[in-house]
Amino acid sequence: MILLETRELTKRFGGLTAIDRVSMHIEEGDIVGLIGPNGAGKTTLVNAISGLNPPTSGRVMMFGRETTGFTPERMCRRGLSRTFQIPIPFPKMTVLENVKTAAIFGNKAGKVDDPVAHSREMLAFVDFPLAEDTISEKLNTVQLKRLDLARALASHPQLLFLDELASGLSEAELQDMMKLIRKISGQGITILMIEHIMQLIMSVCNRLVCIQFGKKIAEGATAEVARDPAVTKAYLGDASISCPTA
Ligand SMILES: Nc1ncnc2c1ncn2[C@@H]1O[C@H](COP(=O)(O)OP(=O)(O)O)[C@@H](O)[C@H]1O
Ligand SMILES: [Mg+2]
Repeated sequence: MILLETRELTKRFGGLTAIDRVSMHIEEGDIVGLIGPNGAGKTTLVNAISGLNPPTSGRVMMFGRETTGFTPERMCRRGLSRTFQIPIPFPKMTVLENVKTAAIFGNKAGKVDDPVAHSREMLAFVDFPLAEDTISEKLNTVQLKRLDLARALASHPQLLFLDELASGLSEAELQDMMKLIRKISGQGITILMIEHIMQLIMSVCNRLVCIQFGKKIAEGATAEVARDPAVTKAYLGDASISCPTA
């Protein structure tokens, strides 16, 4: 079953077409990798779907209904959560309070009986390494990303977007993150992840969508897309990323 579909989705910033008529889809149970060189338009695509920065033209369909231009709150209550490339929590609030905010405001009224207990469950689920009363501005990047993930999960998403969740992790942390992504998928949550780390993409994603200069250049099964000459060329043209077939 198709959970989400974009049709000719386009986002322009003045004269720059950051995403250009992108049509793609996500099926129930997928872990889709959204790949492409820096500046390709990956975050812009996620922002256009999730409502943070609505599209200029084109359509978004979620669970078979049109959601084009919906606000992030509305998308969240319909079952879409996302994390951010650079997470920004409420800095003066504790870790628990940050997750609690999502547990209270990210769900339909009455869905969560006990927001504190639910928030603790989410922090435990993501193996949050610090005490729940730690002030959020004290967190390092890796801890911030785990908190952001706990927050995103607190609203009971059916579909979860992850924006470079694994960047900056050590090898051991990367292994933990792979396990965590599989654990989330095992809960029945469909995932779209923007990712550069090929080891992670190749081991967890069943499908890939590759964009370059705002245009989709490939979509399909992971192994096929990874050996697609257009994809390899896009990556070889960007010295900061290793070739996916290497
Ligand atoms: N809010 C914005 N205003 C103007 N230009 C933007 C904005 N957001 C992104 N862009 C531009 O859109 C292009 C795609 O950016 P982005 O989606 O962040 O790429 P990626 O996530 O693939 O690295 C870049 O050229 C970027 O500078
Ligand atoms: Mg980005």
